[in-house]
Amino acid sequence: MEHLQNENANCPLPPLRFRNGAFRIMVVGDLHEQYDLSDELDRLKTADSMRLLWTAAETLRPDLIVYAGDQGKDDDEEKMRAIIRRITAPAKEYDIPYAVVFGNHDPECAIPKARQLELYREEYGNFYTFDGAPGVTGCGNCLVPVKDGAGERDILNLWFVDSLNLCEDREVSYYDWLREDQIAWYKDTAKRIKDARGGLPPALWFMHIPVREEYRLLKKARLWEYPYSVKAFGKRRGRYVPRDPSIGYLGEDPACAEVNSGIFDAWKEVGDVRGAFFGHDHMNEFAGEVDGILLAQCKTAGFHNYTDGCNAGVRLITVDEARPEKIETHMVHFKELGLKSGSLGPIQRNFTDRQVINIRIASVAAGAIAVAAGAAALVWRRK
Ligand SMILES: [Fe+2]
Ligand SMILES: [Fe+2]
Repeated sequence: MEHLQNENANCPLPPLRFRNGAFRIMVVGDLHEQYDLSDELDRLKTADSMRLLWTAAETLRPDLIVYAGDQGKDDDEEKMRAIIRRITAPAKEYDIPYAVVFGNHDPECAIPKARQLELYREEYGNFYTFDGAPGVTGCGNCLVPVKDGAGERDILNLWFVDSLNLCEDREVSYYDWLREDQIAWYKDTAKRIKDARGGLPPALWFMHIPVREEYRLLKKARLWEYPYSVKAFGKRRGRYVPRDPSIGYLGEDPACAEVNSGIFDAWKEVGDVRGAFFGHDHMNEFAGEVDGILLAQCKTAGFHNYTDGCNAGVRLITVDEARPEKIETHMVHFKELGLKSGSLGPIQRNFTDRQVINIRIASVAAGAIAVAAGAAALVWRRK
């Protein structure tokens, strides 16, 4: 079997390659699956998530599926295996290669991430995440090249990186950030490819927790923008809206680490990464360029945890073989696939979570005004 031409470590799978002039990736974010579906609502949520996954895989027939972290967890290995079997079943059925990056919730169980990688491979072996950086912080850091349609040259690189979990010192940051050795591994690997081949193919980067530079796509909200603004905490405290509405939907504050790891600057220095794709923030689906690098949020594809109403979806990325430095990407939502939710009530089916929050705020405000007006009227009548 031909091995991946990977400078760092060998993955025992045939190289990925462009097909019909393009390479298409379907990103699946934050499924948060669980084994126990004895509760009726949990069963309906999983049914909705799986309907989305099966329909998207069948309709889009991508060349690769990337699970963007927070896939699911269970302390029992066989139950964890069952979760993995459930979520990878559509890829297996349609013979689609896949990869995963780990999210902050994936290690919250008794199955270590390294063992989880083995379970993925055992359940469906067309699996492209591997330990490409032995000894480096994190699990499943790897580089996967994609060859042109003829299978001759690597014309696109895919970086899969573990964005780690929670910071030990919550005073410093709630979420952890990439370690220096991960960034050094990225730079060294890229340099080795560049030195060996006289150039570096354009690349896409996948990890769970977004980079702080996402805030450069946002701006502080003015008073009249509050109804569609999001509230941020920590060093970024304040209310934000998209700097340019064309970047797409901002449903919540980007929940990145309080410390900037420096990976964004490393991308600029190395010059290969054209697009970076993140999960973690279940409602966000904006995508915009910062210093020429596309930063794209992959909204949740799952109905467990918070879901943004009926707007769950997958992100499709298309790279053109003739111009692999150009990326086209958009969300494909549950509703657009003609699906109907069995787990959500009528309000959640028809409104986003942000709209529901605004309706609640408006109701409370209206109630407070009514009480104040009633009290004022009472006082006036007594005079
Ligand atoms: Fe999540
Ligand atoms: Fe997360």
